[in-house]
Amino acid sequence: MSYGLLTEKKGIIFGALDENSIAWKTAVRVHEEGGQFILTNAPVAMRMGSINDLAQQTNSQVIPADATSIEDLENLIDQSIKILGGKLDFVLHSIGMSVNVRKGRPYTDQNHSWTAKGWDVSAGSFHKLMQVLYKKDAMNKWGSIVALSYMAAQRVFPDYNDMADNKAYLESIARSFGYFFGRDKKVRVNTISQSPTPTTAGKGVKGFDGFISYAEKMSPLGNATALDCANYTITLFSDLTKRVTLQNLYNDGGFSNMGVSDAVMVDMVDNKE
Ligand SMILES: NC(=O)c1ccc[n+]([C@@H]2O[C@H](COP(=O)([O-])OP(=O)(O)OC[C@H]3O[C@@H](n4cnc5c(N)ncnc54)[C@H](O)[C@@H]3O)[C@@H](O)[C@H]2O)c1
Repeated sequence: MSYGLLTEKKGIIFGALDENSIAWKTAVRVHEEGGQFILTNAPVAMRMGSINDLAQQTNSQVIPADATSIEDLENLIDQSIKILGGKLDFVLHSIGMSVNVRKGRPYTDQNHSWTAKGWDVSAGSFHKLMQVLYKKDAMNKWGSIVALSYMAAQRVFPDYNDMADNKAYLESIARSFGYFFGRDKKVRVNTISQSPTPTTAGKGVKGFDGFISYAEKMSPLGNATALDCANYTITLFSDLTKRVTLQNLYNDGGFSNMGVSDAVMVDMVDNKE
């Protein structure tokens, strides 16, 4: 169902790798709501994923950019403004990667050059992106910038590893840069803290199956899907949320405020008997 919430709005969507990606679902929903956008991903992801199918489906162009490269970001933003015929109304940062997670190094035995790389991709890139947008004055007044986070920024999830620290940093950047973007450009900056979701990045976390079923049992509304996240993002890109900024917003079926649920209690008792 379409509400026309993004008619005449233009933007950039980072991080659509395949049809499971949260960014992929978001691109489809933005298109349905009337928004126009450039799709972007790391040059290496162009070969692994199927972003060109999405571009065709949403009538959009693809511009490769490594989100850790200022030069790539500058080129992406210049080109996007040219192709879309004006400044941007929305940007989605849907990027995350930990080399330690990928290579199975535990939190207590990190390779710190991998830690630095993962930080740059998952958190530093958000600052770089906003700095380029800010300096180029690339956002329209009342525009909206969203990045995706996870509750391991606030609470301990041991196997989430260094991504927990990256998400804490990401959320802090949203607040810190959001202040300047709000004050100087009247642009919103928020993070959405999403339920565990079966995507390439999500499934890379050790013990993901246990992770997702535990969250499902703990959440009164059940886990939020990638499509739920896309829909929430649409509201944050729309004019209906003009003064929501500097927030970390939970899209998690209620998980973040739970202590324990009946479903989890039942499992605990069963396991003891
Ligand atoms: N899946 C989950 O359980 C979950 C939960 C909460 C938050 N998130 C967050 O949602 C976001 C999207 O992840 P997803 O779950 O859709 O997985 P995904 O694997 O589909 O998306 C991650 C994207 O990051 C891109 N990327 C990696 N390095 C990059 C670079 N240098 N430059 C540009 N792009 C780069 C990848 O190519 C990929 O498209 C991430 O920030 C992730 O941490 C995911």
